Amino acid sequence: MRNERLQQFLAIHKQKIDEALPQHIQKLQAPESLKEAMVYSLQAGGKRVRPILLLATLHGFNQKEELGIDVACAIEMIHTYSLIHDDLPAMDDDDMRRGKPTNHKVFGEALAILAGDALLTYSFQLIAGLKHPSITSEMKVKLMELLAKAAGPEGMVGGQVSDLDGEGKTLQLDDLEYIHHHKTGDLLAYSVVAGAILANAEQAEVDNLHAFAKELGLVFQIKDDILDVEGDEQTIGKPIGSDEDNNKVTYPSLLTMDGAKAKLNEHTSRAKEYLYKVKMENSLLEAITEYIAERDH
Ligand code: IPE
Ligand code: IPE
Ligand code: MG
Ligand code: MG
Ligand code: MG
Repeated sequence: MRNERLQQFLAIHKQKIDEALPQHIQKLQAPESLKEAMVYSLQAGGKRVRPILLLATLHGFNQKEELGIDVACAIEMIHTYSLIHDDLPAMDDDDMRRGKPTNHKVFGEALAILAGDALLTYSFQLIAGLKHPSITSEMKVKLMELLAKAAGPEGMVGGQVSDLDGEGKTLQLDDLEYIHHHKTGDLLAYSVVAGAILANAEQAEVDNLHAFAKELGLVFQIKDDILDVEGDEQTIGKPIGSDEDNNKVTYPSLLTMDGAKAKLNEHTSRAKEYLYKVKMENSLLEAITEYIAERDH
């Protein structure tokens, strides 16, 4: 990664998230086998892009990152649940994730499904129970409403259904954009918006940040499609060629690899245009945008 400030920010905050996630689960009064399955995938070593986006947004509004750690954990829990379910035989049927065997390979399908369910529901319990003095009840309701929207039928789950529906079909770019926006973009966008809400940002700033992050979400999934073709399996920690095996329509399959890369650049530029409209210190978010577009895993 080129940007030194981002590297430093990542090193400090990724560690905080990595430590906080299992602590949240370990303290639960729940069957040990369930907690083990939840912690297994949480600790499997994700990049923590969504938590970092939330914390970088807070930072850009001059707020202490501590304010956002728990909401960042809640988002990472939902993201991790989505990956556990995405890898199941009934969905993408993948055996490796984050460089380790997928959850169902280790714990069986029933516990993998339930570990996903538990991560999803617990994330809302976590937000409802936030105790920070500057987080009002109104903020909590807004955070939960928007999270449900981003993760549920109008967001990630809706996108995943359309993604499965599209297998083996001829899709137009519009359809594919819809899928990518929802299965990936919405939760990523929520991460930025949640940071702005916690920072008590003006609605105009929240709106521009949302537009920025939607573009960024698209960039993220286009890059994911590209890495599924030309990534290195060790580096990305999951199988390459999964999309082709499942007859998925992706940016490279629809537009050729060069076409997909052109779209990636187009949406990266558009993301930055929105970001520059926001009245905040934007250099970390700008660096994360470049990192997401250029990442190799
Ligand atoms: C993978 O997400 C699934 C998509 C939404 C494309 P990430 O690439 O963020 O996966 P981790 O969390 O780093 O494992
Ligand atoms: C799924 O996209 C995104 C979600 C899990 C919501 P992919 O199926 O392309 O994700 P990977 O490539 O398995 O990580
Ligand atoms: Mg999938
Ligand atoms: Mg998948
Ligand atoms: Mg993929």
